[in-house]
Amino acid sequence: MRYGACYYPEHWPEDRWPTDAKLMRDAGFNVVRMAEFAWVHMEPSEGRFNFDWLHRAIDLLADHGIQTVLGTPTAAPPAWLAQKRPDIMRVREDGHRCVFGLRQHGCVNSPDFRRASDRIVRAMAGELGKHDAVIGWQIDNEFGQPCYCAVCRAEFQRWLADLYSGLDALNAAWGTTFWSQIYSDWSQIPTPTAAMGPPNPGLGLDYRRFMTSSFDTFQASQIAILRELSPGKPITHNFMGFLPETLDYRQLARDLDFASWDNYPMYRPDLAPARIAVNHDQTRGLKRRNFWVMEQQSGPAGWGTMMSQPRPGQLRLFVYHAVGRGADGILYFRWRPCRYGIEQYWHGILDHDGSTNRRYDEISKVGAELKSIWGELEGSEPVAEVAIINDYDSRFAFQIQKSNPEFAYADHARLYYDALHRLNVTVDVTCCDIDLRRYKIVIAPALFVLKEETAVKLRDYVESGGMLIATFRTGVKDQYSRIYDEPLPARLRDVFGIRVAEYSSPFATEENRIIADGFPESTARLWLDALEPDTAQVLAVYDPGGFAAGQPAITRNSFGSGTAIYVGCAPSQDFLNAFVRAICEERGVTLGPASPPNVEIAVRRKGDTELLFITNHNAEPVSVDSVTAGSELLTGRAVDGGVSLEPYGVAVVRR
Ligand code: GAL
Repeated sequence: MRYGACYYPEHWPEDRWPTDAKLMRDAGFNVVRMAEFAWVHMEPSEGRFNFDWLHRAIDLLADHGIQTVLGTPTAAPPAWLAQKRPDIMRVREDGHRCVFGLRQHGCVNSPDFRRASDRIVRAMAGELGKHDAVIGWQIDNEFGQPCYCAVCRAEFQRWLADLYSGLDALNAAWGTTFWSQIYSDWSQIPTPTAAMGPPNPGLGLDYRRFMTSSFDTFQASQIAILRELSPGKPITHNFMGFLPETLDYRQLARDLDFASWDNYPMYRPDLAPARIAVNHDQTRGLKRRNFWVMEQQSGPAGWGTMMSQPRPGQLRLFVYHAVGRGADGILYFRWRPCRYGIEQYWHGILDHDGSTNRRYDEISKVGAELKSIWGELEGSEPVAEVAIINDYDSRFAFQIQKSNPEFAYADHARLYYDALHRLNVTVDVTCCDIDLRRYKIVIAPALFVLKEETAVKLRDYVESGGMLIATFRTGVKDQYSRIYDEPLPARLRDVFGIRVAEYSSPFATEENRIIADGFPESTARLWLDALEPDTAQVLAVYDPGGFAAGQPAITRNSFGSGTAIYVGCAPSQDFLNAFVRAICEERGVTLGPASPPNVEIAVRRKGDTELLFITNHNAEPVSVDSVTAGSELLTGRAVDGGVSLEPYGVAVVRR
């Protein structure tokens, strides 16, 4: 288990470093992340390098038993570079070129920026790549700021020319016959800035894919340098969890050794465990293996305003919550809040004055605990029988056309995620490009852009015995974002045994309901598909008061040796809780032990051993009666008839 903090020695006088190293050691730390914003300290002017300070910091920490993950500093290109090569500065969607003074202002397609980035990475890796105490690398920091500059435009045109067999193919794919948009030369193709207005959906989708590919290439170049000069040291990137939709994380994670993400649960007042958990499961789903939390909230945080102070026990809770879902590394952000800069308010473990405090004590306690239980945890992982598909192409397409003003892909997917979470069922939030047959249930929310190969995959999955649940707006668009020229759900009608006869995007004020035998009555929101069954059986119909009275809203079809369920609207959470439970039971999915509201039980497995991470996200004590036997690792006591947890308390039960 890796446990530590993000550390910025360059912000503090060097005579303070030994105190920091000692305090970190005493807190049980064995890792820090450093240097991901320290470009100017390592290359104060073009081609003049200085790694002495970093060497000293790495060595000092190593003397205290703390190893280092180095961040490549390309999220913070220095002022001298911005001044000397203004073309490295990113252009925002509104058409304005970034002005130096913040971060993430580099354009990943700018040849000058790429050269400068590769040069600093090469210098860093050459100098420190084989240092014993350097155990891995993080590329850049939180990728995700697209660029719309002239270089990107030319690159986009080239990228399209590689992708399409010719301009005719591109014109056909995007349907540029509409509004006289036919391109007769590649150089005419624009970037979708605010000045364009809502883009042609095909162009908009391709631009988002192009941006992912641009970041991918930028990252690949750094990875190649690190693999050459720092062989054997794992490489990661710190993603931002489930919500961001500017880049396809799945593609970016492919070349990495493991995925990481930055966990700030207190960004939002809703601290329900499912809201946080989906991010862990999505990060684990990127490579379907355990992951790290590269930045974990460690205090009140904010730039201009501040989030609430974590209450006693909450920092510890967030750690066990992450570990239970597969985190093998936790680094707090940050060791000590900076006295200057826009993140003055972003508190760390220590306070501004460098003194220890309640948070430090709690974090130290966790350090000692993790050390004592790591032997048990090592090699264990969550094992999922259910997958939720997180499809970036569909997310991109919905960004361009929300379809219903209230619709948000992540919220829609979370309805299903939350239903599974209540049952303490382990879920992989992952993508379609894997072997789905390992899952007892696959849930594909609103698979708006359905590529031919994905349709084949889902068909095979059902045919060979799988249980697929899909929702409205599935199979609407082809890979070019053209609407399929056939009744919906395109390519999969026979699999679902239905046809969408009619649809409506209801007003938020509209009252629509569905009625299903054996389930609670439910509202129907966001989208209403009236289904016409062919071979499917009807599970729910719209009620007489609203749209499509009496017509099917949810259907179920046998196809091959499997089953395909189509849900034509967004039902209430209560309805889905019951519905998803029934399907899990039918499919023999392993349900976790029952738990009270806001108490999560996550399971890591190793062979026949189960490790239950029971986390109480309530400010009140709770008892969990469903876990009656086993041994609680943090207290060393046997579980006898139930587990009692203090406010924000945790238990780790081996059974
Ligand atoms: C993260 C970022 C960190 C730090 C933190 C607080 O998203 O990776 O570098 O900026 O937010 O703003």
